[in-house]
Amino acid sequence: MHHYTQGKPTRQGHKGIPEGQFEEEQGLKGFFGPVSHLIKSQPSTRWTNIDGPLRPHMFDLVQLDRSVGSQRLLYNSSIAIHMSFIDVYQPEQATAVRNADGDLLYFCHKGSGEVFTEYGLLKYSPGQYIVVPRCLHHTIFPSKKSEFFIVENKTSHYEEPERGLVGRHAIYDPNALFKPELELQKERFRSLGLAVKEIAVKRLDEVTRFQYADCVYSDVLGWKGDLYPFTLHMDHMMPLMSHRAHLPPSAHTTFVARDFVICTFLPRPLEKDKDALKVPFYHQNIDYDEVLFYHDGDFFSRDNLHAGMMSFHPQGFPHGPHPKAVKSVDSKTETSEYAVMVDTRWPLQIDAALSNVELGDYWKSWRA
Ligand SMILES: [Fe+2]
Repeated sequence: MHHYTQGKPTRQGHKGIPEGQFEEEQGLKGFFGPVSHLIKSQPSTRWTNIDGPLRPHMFDLVQLDRSVGSQRLLYNSSIAIHMSFIDVYQPEQATAVRNADGDLLYFCHKGSGEVFTEYGLLKYSPGQYIVVPRCLHHTIFPSKKSEFFIVENKTSHYEEPERGLVGRHAIYDPNALFKPELELQKERFRSLGLAVKEIAVKRLDEVTRFQYADCVYSDVLGWKGDLYPFTLHMDHMMPLMSHRAHLPPSAHTTFVARDFVICTFLPRPLEKDKDALKVPFYHQNIDYDEVLFYHDGDFFSRDNLHAGMMSFHPQGFPHGPHPKAVKSVDSKTETSEYAVMVDTRWPLQIDAALSNVELGDYWKSWRA
């Protein structure tokens, strides 16, 4: 289809929207594909009632039962999203895990510690992504009680996003991807007197335990190649921005998979142009279900949010900023939010356990 206009459209998306009017973006392929901007007299989030299973969701994951260890949150055949709570434990309790069902991306929400891998030692702290490819055994070894938002990629492998015009050092430099350190791990095992002798392998969501007479991390003498676990910290990411017009969430893509993308929202200055829209625009990201995990900071586009919450906006209706955020944005010059977004190509199911931590009135929250 070619570009076409009717009525009174704006010249530039996300800018110059007449006072009292609202822009709604309807787009395909996660903001990369065909797109239209509708100028409306009222936002499309003004529903008065929703009768049926489809609705926006907000979950307070702080209220989850931490004693479960790990809780599945959302899932379909290509992805599973979990929250995991790991206590500090004694070295003799350490076991290794290996996931044959997919690559694992751990996002550290709280805590700190180390990850032992066959390739060497990685360290983590809040705001760190840890990517462990499918079938590589590893042990999370917290020095502080840790909480992870985990995204299991069942149908592909995590890759860096295309940087296109801005070059491969934008968003994050490839040198910001931390590699495992084999010698450091050997020293650490010696000082801890650690020997991990069991690997718990998950395949088709069933666990099989492989036991060994000696440590499953002590046999690697060296390695080479381009397949290995790695970390990336939010502090080492350089968000793209335009000082003139709001950029879509796709500008903040951190990792891509076949059936979903991971984006990271970080503090940034707000747009400087007087007529620029400074809050995220109302939109239908038509092909994608959208999940947002709030890690830290002040979440300016929503009311009553705190760190550890997760919103889920399925395909089928538009969403956008809350009315109070639209009113208060003029007094702000920057954002201070840290959040992880997972946009999935195929519809997600909600784990039944989340009904205990859902904010039932969230669907009403766009009312002025
Ligand atoms: Fe969205």
